[in-house]
Amino acid sequence: MSKYTEETVLSVKHYTDRLFTFSTTRKPSFRFRSGEFVMIGLMINDKPVMRAYSIASPEWDEKLDFYSIKVPDGPLTQHLANIEVGDKILVGLKGTGTLVLDALLPGKRLYMLATGTGIAPFASLIRDPVTYEHYDQVILTQTCREVAELQYGYDLVKESMDDPLVGEYLQAGKLIHDAAATREPHTHTRRLTERVADGSFFSDYGLPEFNPETDRAMICGSLAMSIDFKKMFEDRGFTEGSVSSPGQFVYEKSFVG
Ligand code: A2P
Repeated sequence: MSKYTEETVLSVKHYTDRLFTFSTTRKPSFRFRSGEFVMIGLMINDKPVMRAYSIASPEWDEKLDFYSIKVPDGPLTQHLANIEVGDKILVGLKGTGTLVLDALLPGKRLYMLATGTGIAPFASLIRDPVTYEHYDQVILTQTCREVAELQYGYDLVKESMDDPLVGEYLQAGKLIHDAAATREPHTHTRRLTERVADGSFFSDYGLPEFNPETDRAMICGSLAMSIDFKKMFEDRGFTEGSVSSPGQFVYEKSFVG
């Protein structure tokens, strides 16, 4: 039995020469939980070239959204970067992954900590009303090198404001969106690890420091950042969760990019 099906590209938007987003059709039989990833790919020289991609749309959506880097000699992305509306994409049969609400214990606040395209699973979760039903406050942070790389996150939050399912939560101020560029002047110009360590991240938003009693966290981004935050949470008494044993934080081990 085949490990994937074919979907059709519905839209493509290029953000920078390194970043783009695209949407595809979705078979009604395709099941995933908001925040999960799936293998996607293309037939290249008659062989499927597949990579793990976070699904950036919520589980209720009829289409699938993805957010991707372009690597000039990347086996998949050099081809994926050229896709056009109407092209076919291979999509695995089901989603999987650790960045799901079921892997976390109930809490007051949910922190979503991303660098770069690590924002993709959170693009799914911030558009799922269940996220706001579980938490009083949701804090989405994205750190990138350059300001232009933050645009996808700004567009996402702006569009979600008018979303029929989650718009009311955003308009009520339940989502904080923190965007930082580390290598260009911007509102915040340092790594999140540094802003958390000196407390300025919390004081900027009137938030209390991370507390394992009330706070939950999801981490997705560069390996170095994931390792640093994992340690930071463990040092503060947070335990890692999974669907079979929910905890206080989770991080995506399969993320590359
Ligand atoms: P910096 O510019 O200081 O390296 P990359 O493109 O290397 O994956 O990095 C994406 C973003 O993540 C950059 O803003 C980078 O900051 C930041 N970053 C990289 N490593 C860490 C880390 N260990 N902790 C926090 N932020 C990090």
